[in-house]
Amino acid sequence: MRTRPAPLPIVSGKGVYLYTEDGRRILDGISSWWVNVHGHSHPLLNRALAKQAERLEHVMFAGCTHPPAVDLAERLVALLPDGLTRVFYSDDGSTAVEVALKMASQYWRNIGQSRRRRFIALHHAYHGDTVGAMSVSEESIFSVGFTSLTFPVLRADAPYCYRCPLGLDRASCGIDCLASLEGLLREHGDEVAGVIVEPMLQGAGGMLVWPHEFLAGARRLCDEYGVLLIADEVLTGFGRTGRMFACEHASVTPDVICLSKGLTAGYLPLAATVVSERVYEAFLSEDSARTFFHGHSFTANPLACAVALASLDIFRDESVLERVRRLERQFREGLGTLRDLPIVGDVRVIGGVGVIELVSDQTSKHAGGYLDQRGPGLAAAFLERGLLLRPLGNVLYVMPPYVITDEEAAWMMEQIHDVLAQLQPA
Ligand SMILES: Cc1ncc(COP(=O)(O)O)c(C=O)c1O
Repeated sequence: MRTRPAPLPIVSGKGVYLYTEDGRRILDGISSWWVNVHGHSHPLLNRALAKQAERLEHVMFAGCTHPPAVDLAERLVALLPDGLTRVFYSDDGSTAVEVALKMASQYWRNIGQSRRRRFIALHHAYHGDTVGAMSVSEESIFSVGFTSLTFPVLRADAPYCYRCPLGLDRASCGIDCLASLEGLLREHGDEVAGVIVEPMLQGAGGMLVWPHEFLAGARRLCDEYGVLLIADEVLTGFGRTGRMFACEHASVTPDVICLSKGLTAGYLPLAATVVSERVYEAFLSEDSARTFFHGHSFTANPLACAVALASLDIFRDESVLERVRRLERQFREGLGTLRDLPIVGDVRVIGGVGVIELVSDQTSKHAGGYLDQRGPGLAAAFLERGLLLRPLGNVLYVMPPYVITDEEAAWMMEQIHDVLAQLQPA
């Protein structure tokens, strides 16, 4: 409370804008923590929510079911990469990950291979703030105070091309960083339950954009060593990377996928962990000990499911993904020129996400990480101009709702150019 400015009192939202109590209009440049896709207070989503509230606001999802949950499960299965067929609902991104980890662990126990209970996760990973999700996340300022609670995981290199763990150059490398994952699988493969990744875009760990070959390679290695591949698409799902799901960039079907954030277009907390028949079959039994015992009070909340269905209608009826891809082109052009500034180390773009990694020196690539002091100063400078951004330390990024117009996106980039041009090397 002593290190941060007072929170912004937001009283309403419309499209890409948020409005404060004192009448300021602020462009939501990070989609309210990456959840909003179609803009704030969207009339179709509002209507779906109100209509569902008139019919059924909630019922427990143990021993009961309801049409919005069933319809949503069917729609998700039809949209997801082929082979993901069984949907388990929970509440948010972290619980989607907890469910994935518990399911993967029990899967092996149910099929008589209890020895497989370890997880491999990547450097720079972020999977959420609950204990299991924290364990598979890379240790960071978010989790360092809780190491007495977390469980150990095996950690493999991520394809952070700007700071290649092997010192190679992407233009000429053969995705050699996969060797680290392969090495862990070779050494520990028969103890490993699953490999968990954030496909194509590692978010809170620094907005790292992957070459799609890394994802394809991870799938191939999981197949080779018989390990489950868990795709955490909590951030990337629902169009953020220019495809409905990031796994599509490498034509990969994971064994387990975690969805949340954009699932309800950012309206209400809801998550889904979707698995293949292979995983589902391991739980389908006359023996109740094989049951997946996990449930939350608000599992499959009908209001959230109804909004999620209306959001999928918008994806179907309007050319939303086209819009995201246009945004990608706009970011590539508009942010690419920032590379000329001495404080800019790297510019990365994927779908509707534009990332600028700041350094104090382009040659040494030195930077202060998440606690880099420039972050809060930059956030304040943008806010003064009516733009809500929340840099991850030295990593500045934009991730607006997809309904942003070309003019609004151009304005946003103009603010970034202006503010960064005045910034001195740290
Ligand atoms: C990839 C990923 N997984 C999981 C989570 C956790 O989601 P939640 O904050 O909804 O618990 C996040 C949140 O940012 C995320 O980016």
